[in-house]
Amino acid sequence: MATPSKAKTVYVCSACGYETPKWYGQCPSCKAWNTFEEEIKREAPAGARSAPRLTGSGAKSFSQISDELEKRLASGIGEFDRVLGGGLVLGSVVLISGDPGIGKSTILLQACERYAKTAGEVLYVSGEESPHQLKTRARRLGVSSENIGVLCETDADYICDYVAGNKPKVVVIDSIQTMSLSDTASLPGSVTQVRECASAFMRTAKRLNVPFIIVGHVNKDGNIAGPKVLEHIVDCVLSFEGDRHFSYRLLRAVKNRFGSTNELGVFDMGDDGLREVPNPSQSMLEGRPKNASGSCVACVMEGSRPIMAEVQALVTATGYGTARRMSDGFDYNRLSMLIAVLEKKCGYILGNCDVFVNIVGGLRVDEPATDLTVALAMVSSLKDVVVPQDVIAFGEIGLAGELRSVGGCEQRVREAHRLGFRRCVIPLQNLKQMPAELKNKIELVGASYIRQAFEAVK
Ligand SMILES: Nc1ncnc2c1ncn2[C@@H]1O[C@H](COP(=O)(O)OP(=O)(O)OP(=O)(O)O)[C@@H](O)[C@H]1O
Ligand SMILES: [Mg+2]
Ligand SMILES: [Zn+2]
Repeated sequence: MATPSKAKTVYVCSACGYETPKWYGQCPSCKAWNTFEEEIKREAPAGARSAPRLTGSGAKSFSQISDELEKRLASGIGEFDRVLGGGLVLGSVVLISGDPGIGKSTILLQACERYAKTAGEVLYVSGEESPHQLKTRARRLGVSSENIGVLCETDADYICDYVAGNKPKVVVIDSIQTMSLSDTASLPGSVTQVRECASAFMRTAKRLNVPFIIVGHVNKDGNIAGPKVLEHIVDCVLSFEGDRHFSYRLLRAVKNRFGSTNELGVFDMGDDGLREVPNPSQSMLEGRPKNASGSCVACVMEGSRPIMAEVQALVTATGYGTARRMSDGFDYNRLSMLIAVLEKKCGYILGNCDVFVNIVGGLRVDEPATDLTVALAMVSSLKDVVVPQDVIAFGEIGLAGELRSVGGCEQRVREAHRLGFRRCVIPLQNLKQMPAELKNKIELVGASYIRQAFEAVK
């Protein structure tokens, strides 16, 4: 770079990337609190890197653009490929985020082994662990392909040059927070570094048509540490979730330019790494208490796939003070709404009760179809009446206490039948559309109000 660059101090919002010369307690742009970080910034010489720039040639018509990008690399790990929309698109950049220790490095190392076998040379760049540590993990996971190149490096420019020189088929960067560009003065992990390094990798990926998988750590709020803009730069954002004390791990697409975002991959963490869970419904229902009140099973749609989930509720009289409401895996505000509907429309008094709701198995359900299941579990606990083992119930509850139809009803009912359930309580609207053949296999009960649904499970 010819002209010496000028350094200045700026404050950057870690949530949205807003820059100001002055520190603020609250970001004027995204209104988040305590998100400003101090950074030293050098004025980039005119024309230097700004937004990711792809190839500089003239405009082309669609027919002139090659189809090369459409090719996908499948790892052969079904659950992983599904979440990516069928495989890794060449030249795409995938960000995978998750809590510390959830298994990000594990899944990527396992995927590397598969890519190395099917596609060829794979580059695994680690800025966090020594080659020895990586080898220990690889041995534990049974990863031994000669095609995996391990590079312990944090200089993003060097990595991009290395990729250009060696042309690996897939590049893994573990993690973006450890990477830095030498001509960006701020510390690794700072907003500017994270953003600049991600853009550098993005440019390299697009230019060479090599897919990059980048690990991103999350901060205490569960957001990817670094600016929100990082999520805009990359093509695909996967989030790796699960309870650390529980062996199930859920991989979810949060953003995907090349596929659906609702897909879910389910894994089981063991000593020898992550194993696919081919039948998640069954696993989610394992260890279900028999003849216990406060439990009811729902069938939730995770993308194109129906998965059974057990909803547990505990309703007890409040000891003193205000009633407590706790919800794990289910939206808190939605829970408050359901409690209000149960009080006003069904006459169940929950105002002086503590209510705890939990979706077993670490699943987080955010579709309204579980409303009825949660309501049934709460009433079951309140009245200490058991919902029969072979019943499932789902449906959206409206403010008037009515049951509204839900999407994917037929798939849900089929999944219930497959797992041996005998009776499904569903919204009446949905019942009307069910094929007759299905009605012979499993007892379907339609309800248009919550009260009717309660009657049906007695
Ligand atoms: N024998 C074992 N030794 C170490 N970890 C194991 C073992 N068996 C299972 N694990 C699991 O592997 C996890 C570590 O996985 P991994 O290092 O891939 O996580 P990570 O998401 O990359 O973490 P970090 O954020 O620290 O990079 C542990 O939390 C543990 O649950
Ligand atoms: Mg790791
Ligand atoms: Zn902001």
